[in-house]
Amino acid sequence: MNDKKIDGSKRKFLKMVSIGSAVVAFAGFVPSLSFLIPRSVGLTSFPTLTLVKPDGTPIHTSDILPNNAQIVLFQYPLSNEPSFLLNLNKSVPGGLGPKNSVVAYSAICQHLGCEPPSIKYYPPGSKKVDKYVVGDYIHCACHGSTYDPSDKAKIITGPAKYPLPTVELSYDSSTDTYKATKMGKPVIYGRKDWPNGSLDNDLRGGDPIKTEGKTDVYILTKTS
Ligand code: FES
Repeated sequence: MNDKKIDGSKRKFLKMVSIGSAVVAFAGFVPSLSFLIPRSVGLTSFPTLTLVKPDGTPIHTSDILPNNAQIVLFQYPLSNEPSFLLNLNKSVPGGLGPKNSVVAYSAICQHLGCEPPSIKYYPPGSKKVDKYVVGDYIHCACHGSTYDPSDKAKIITGPAKYPLPTVELSYDSSTDTYKATKMGKPVIYGRKDWPNGSLDNDLRGGDPIKTEGKTDVYILTKTS
């Protein structure tokens, strides 16, 4: 009788241990699942967002200082995706504004994803970072990739293999205001689905911008 009681307690104990082990094993497995489950889709289409100052009023061309050593950024298309806003003070491919000089690019390096302040815009006259860079450029200090903001952010020096993605803007000349409308190619770093890229999607992996119809332009810091 006493043995039966002991056996019963043993069984109960073993059952609890086995349930506990399963819970621990599952808990241990949870981090692995995050690699198996595709990242969520933050949006189903690109939002059209007016670029505004922190006080909520639209930015105008005069607010984007030409060739200025500032890192002027805004989030697009999701809230964790910084983009450069540059006024190059000359007509450039894809440029908008009164001089066709305003452009926007993803500020996430196409090599391994470094973000500002590691990746910066250097206006004309900045100290050269290497012998190939002779004019204005965007440079990533992580591993030295350099991009040409005057020519669709094409690569000047690697190791990055792709240009910075363009943020397509629209410009209203009657109000001198700008909107971000969609991303151009290639996809933002980290939004390519490994291994075949068949599900490339700039709208994955983050939260939508919460301010209705607007995205703040902000100055992160000044470049040296
Ligand atoms: S992450 Fe920019 S060069 Fe490597």
